[in-house]
Parts: sequence; C-alpha cells; structure tokens
Amino acid sequence: MEQIKHLQLEIENALGELKISNNPKSLYEPITYFLSIGGKRIRPILVLLAARMFNNKRENVLNQALAVELFHNFTLVHDDIMDRAPLRRGITTVHEKWNESQAILSGDVLLIVAYQYLMRTHTVYFGDLMKVFNQMAIEVCEGQQLDMDFEQRDDVSIPEYIEMIRLKTSVLLGCALEIGAIVSDASVEDKKHIYDFGVNIGLAFQIQDDILDVYADASKFGKQVGGDIIANKKTYLYLTARQQANNAQEAIFEAQMNNNNHAEKVNIIRDLYDELAVRQKAELAMQEFYDKAMEHLAAISVNHNDKQLLIGLSDYLMQREI
Ligand code: IPE
Ligand code: IPE
Ligand code: MG
Ligand code: MG
Ligand code: MG
Repeated sequence: MEQIKHLQLEIENALGELKISNNPKSLYEPITYFLSIGGKRIRPILVLLAARMFNNKRENVLNQALAVELFHNFTLVHDDIMDRAPLRRGITTVHEKWNESQAILSGDVLLIVAYQYLMRTHTVYFGDLMKVFNQMAIEVCEGQQLDMDFEQRDDVSIPEYIEMIRLKTSVLLGCALEIGAIVSDASVEDKKHIYDFGVNIGLAFQIQDDILDVYADASKFGKQVGGDIIANKKTYLYLTARQQANNAQEAIFEAQMNNNNHAEKVNIIRDLYDELAVRQKAELAMQEFYDKAMEHLAAISVNHNDKQLLIGLSDYLMQREI
C-alpha cells in the first residue's frame, strides 16, 4: 500500500508539472481545475506497474502513464454531462461549474493532450501504441453509448450489461497495462495475458462502482450517491433485482421509474435491493472476475514475486470505499 501511495504521489506531481496553456482562460481553467482535484490515479499506476513487472524503468513509461490518466479525465468530464452528474471527486462537475459547451471543449483538449503524451516515446513503439489506444478509445465510446441506450430499455440482459461495462470501463484498464507491456518489449503472450488481467479487474471494478453508487458513504464518496438509480441506469444491482423480484416488488420498480422525487426514489429502490440481497450477489460476481483476472496474471512469464504489486493494487480496488 505504501508503494501504491508513493506512485500516486508521483503521478500527482507529474500532472502538476504538465505545461498546459492558460489562454483562453475559459478553455483551460476547467482543465486545471479538474486535474488538480485528485482521483485515485489507478490507470497510470497500472502502466507503471506493468512496466516495472517487465523490468523497465519508470521514466521510460511516465509519459504514457500520463496519457492514460489524461484520457480517463477526458472521459469523466464528458461522462458527467451524459449522466447529468452534479459532483465528481468531491466537488462540482465541470459542466455545472461552467457550462456544457466548455465541458465538451475542455474535455476535447484533454483527449488531444493525451495523444501528445502517448507519442512521447521511441518511434519503434508508435504503431503498436496507436493501434491499442485507438481501439480502446473507440470501444469506450461504444460502451458509453450503450450505457445511455440502456437507460431507455427495460429488456437489458446481464450478458449485455457485462459487454457494456467491458467497453466503457474495462478496456481502458486492460489498455493501460498493455501499454506498459508494449513499451517494455513484453512477449505477445504476456501482452495478451496482462490485457485480459486488466479487463477482468475492470469488470470487477465497474461492478464495485455500481455498488458504491448505491451504498457508499456520501461524506467520503465524492460523487452523488444514488445517481445511477435516479438516471434509471441498468446496473448489475438493478438487473439482478429485476430478475428476482416477485410481482409486488415488480410493481414498485415499475412505479418508481418515473418518480421525480429523487430522494424518495433512491430510498425505495435501495430498500428493494436490500430485500433482494442483490449487493451480495454483485459481490459474488466481482469475486468471479477477480479470480479470472488472477488466472491471467498467473500465466504471465515473470516470477510470482514480481506480480505482488499488481495483486496488492487489485486487492485495494476490491475493497475501496471511493
Ligand atoms: C470512475 O473511475 C469511472 C469508472 C470507470 C467507474 P475512478 O473510480 O477510477 O475515478 P477517479 O479517477 O479515481 O476519480
Ligand atoms: C464510467 O461509468 C465510464 C466512463 C467514464 C467512461 P460511470 O458513469 O458509472 O462512472 P462514474 O460513476 O460517473 O464515475
Ligand atoms: Mg456514465
Ligand atoms: Mg457517470
Ligand atoms: Mg458509476
């Protein structure tokens, strides 16, 4: 944990030293604001840990680590518009503090700066980096669109949900690790296993995110608790609950979909989740993806000892409260 905190600090410092323009202020102020408010910095840490596992030096991958965090921050600024979210990392979201147009445009700049940092490496890696990064970026958009399409649908299946979260969330974790592996000249097999490790950790991570959205302690969480319920998001909790509800419970679900009293809606749906014990079921699903992730990690051709930091980070993610 100490080592992870150390890496978090290192990313924080590197982000603080980014040379980002300040003119026009209306474009760049939202960027500086968003980058300076913390976040767990998991994705850049994955890049650094993958590189370390394959015996590469940190300074050889720091730019790519930053690229991944910048890309992630771009997705968050735009995601908060799509999800009508008021709060992120404990403070007002960009589109609420400024407006939607500024949030769109400053998000766009974050995406472009991400590419600039991705390319700060030896030219031999350009082709592979572009290929995996572009595929990931398109998949994230596909996942985000499905996530929104599902708000309007009431026939979403669990496999469709898993595919949606694989796209919107997991491929970025897989890609972060694969980038660390690419710049460290890992073998084709190892690159595949580390990517699949990341995707499975990412699936568990997003199910945990769904759980926290309902059950987190609002004073620590940094996001609006109940936001997914308010937006009729098809989360693992929601889909499992709808599958298992009896007729009376179904009727309550139906009635709540259009309830504009948000606080009341969140309480009623959370009570149904409790009655149906869906949190426990979601935790079992997380555990299954975690186990699959560990199988892929075990298959990577380096000493078990050199995998300890990635195991430690995975364990931290499964128990996180924010
Ligand atoms: C939030 O990611 C978006 C999801 C994919 C759930 P994080 O929970 O990693 O957010 P930060 O970067 O730590 O704020
Ligand atoms: C996150 O999904 C996916 C992306 C940001 C691409 P969520 O919408 O659940 O993320 P949070 O909960 O707002 O962080
Ligand atoms: Mg979203
Ligand atoms: Mg969101
Ligand atoms: Mg969420």
